[in-house]
Amino acid sequence: MGIIGSFGDAAGNPVIDRATCTVCGECAGICPVEVLSKRDGEIRIDRSKGFGCIACGQCMMVCPSDSIAVSGRNLSPSDVIGLPSPDRRAAIDPVEALMLSRRSIRRFRDEAVPREAIDRVIAAAATAPMGIPPWEVGITVFHGGAKVQDLSWDIADAYERILKFFEGPVGALFRMMMKKPARQQFRSFILPLGRILVEGKRKGTDYVLYGAPAALLFHASPYGDGADAFIACTYAMLAAEATGLGSCMIGCVPPVLERRKDLMKKHGLPEGHIPKIVLILGYPAVRFRKAIRRPFLSVGDR
Ligand SMILES: Cc1cc2nc3c(=O)[nH]c(=O)nc-3n(C[C@H](O)[C@H](O)[C@H](O)COP(=O)(O)O)c2cc1C
Repeated sequence: MGIIGSFGDAAGNPVIDRATCTVCGECAGICPVEVLSKRDGEIRIDRSKGFGCIACGQCMMVCPSDSIAVSGRNLSPSDVIGLPSPDRRAAIDPVEALMLSRRSIRRFRDEAVPREAIDRVIAAAATAPMGIPPWEVGITVFHGGAKVQDLSWDIADAYERILKFFEGPVGALFRMMMKKPARQQFRSFILPLGRILVEGKRKGTDYVLYGAPAALLFHASPYGDGADAFIACTYAMLAAEATGLGSCMIGCVPPVLERRKDLMKKHGLPEGHIPKIVLILGYPAVRFRKAIRRPFLSVGDR
């Protein structure tokens, strides 16, 4: 039995072609769970080791003679593809330049984002690492301003309901019972944010998703690590930047959407998935003339 996921609990299944295997040991050397080992002049497979093969596929990617095939846990040997040639890889300078130039974009040109551009961003994001393969993250694509705005208005309405509750007597009691930092954050951020979003909808201004022409909603199955969705979203953001698209992560949607099964169903989330983060996409209507330096809160040696 392997680690449980949306697909079941079967472990990955590594199979070695003994006729072509040169017993170089590369696969055993890279196997993170030591299911593969090199002993007595052969590669051994111990399926009972730890939690079994996690189907990370690294053995297939290092084997010089294509002698190992792993299947299961949503992986098949045909998922192994050629490496990009070294001349296509970006060095630190262009990567750093891309990162420094990226800004959160909240003003968009009135221009549709081609579906192919969105698919390319998604394909790039899917190269991100996850806690344990395979992906337990899914993406719902909102292609077109009308679909994005429909979500925005639903979220603004959901905030209105929350405001009504927390500004009432029972809600006030709830707030008093919160721990100090949560209470302070609620008063200084969540409530004013809700008022801004609700008032925005009343005036016809979208402060939730900023009238973006496209959005990606990253959600996770209950089996995944929630951090995976944020990492995938970060990759998507950088990929978007590299294709000339502006983007902004939107964290104010998931906490309210998560509490509204009706809205999750309406907006196409798979049953049981938990919304984590939204990435709005579109062609920027603003131009930045400077970058910014923002040091971490602390960087200390020990
Ligand atoms: C997890 C996360 C959630 C965010 N949520 C929102 C949001 O709900 N609304 C918004 O306008 N910006 C949101 N942002 C964008 C941040 O405000 C923005 O990244 C920050 O101001 C820094 O700006 P920069 O990205 O241009 O450096 C979010 C960013 C992150 C990383």
